[in-house]
Amino acid sequence: MDIVVATNNHHKLREFNRLLELDDINLLSLKDENYNDYIDESGITFKENSKIKVKQVYLKLKKPTIADDSGLEIDFLNSEPGVYSARYGGEDLTDKERCFIILDRMKGVVKKDRSARFRCCISYIDEKGVIYQVEETCEGYISENYIGENGFGYDPIFLVDDVCFGLIRGSQKDIISHRGKAIRKIKKYILEKVVEKNE
Ligand code: IMP
Repeated sequence: MDIVVATNNHHKLREFNRLLELDDINLLSLKDENYNDYIDESGITFKENSKIKVKQVYLKLKKPTIADDSGLEIDFLNSEPGVYSARYGGEDLTDKERCFIILDRMKGVVKKDRSARFRCCISYIDEKGVIYQVEETCEGYISENYIGENGFGYDPIFLVDDVCFGLIRGSQKDIISHRGKAIRKIKKYILEKVVEKNE
């Protein structure tokens, strides 16, 4: 069975490949499928956006599709950047520039007010067009400096128990991350469905 992973973010694709290993399931990227259409993430929640992604890709490719929508919520900034995490501060900025915008906005804010979380909603649309969604979070806080070069996005400014995501290996991040937890949940669901189908 083929499942299309609807993301152009190669970091996310790597996380999906690492965590969604399933016998008899062949994960395909949008590149493998020559899918280049623009996806308008116009939703105001992660749930809506991940649904938009899987529906749009499924309608064209007619294959089971999985997608996540994720981002960082900072309590001190009223949950910003949230669903705008990928575009925060402007479309053309680098991930590193976006991190520095946040570090600047959080300058002088004491540790107890630096709480934040990554949130991830994953949608899976099966061969019949039925959608299943899971949402998970990873609680932490914003560092005072830019730390490490591992990962992507806001990893170098996100701490869990004093450990920065910018310093840990991908396999370590998978254990506690929002996406790691959500992928494991959706994997369980897909496995159950595959078993049901084969019975
Ligand atoms: P999306 O592709 O619209 O879901 O955008 C997600 C954005 O949220 C990414 O571009 C990152 O900036 C941020 N993000 C989501 N997950 C992570 C993560 O695991 N680490 C760091 N940043 C993340």
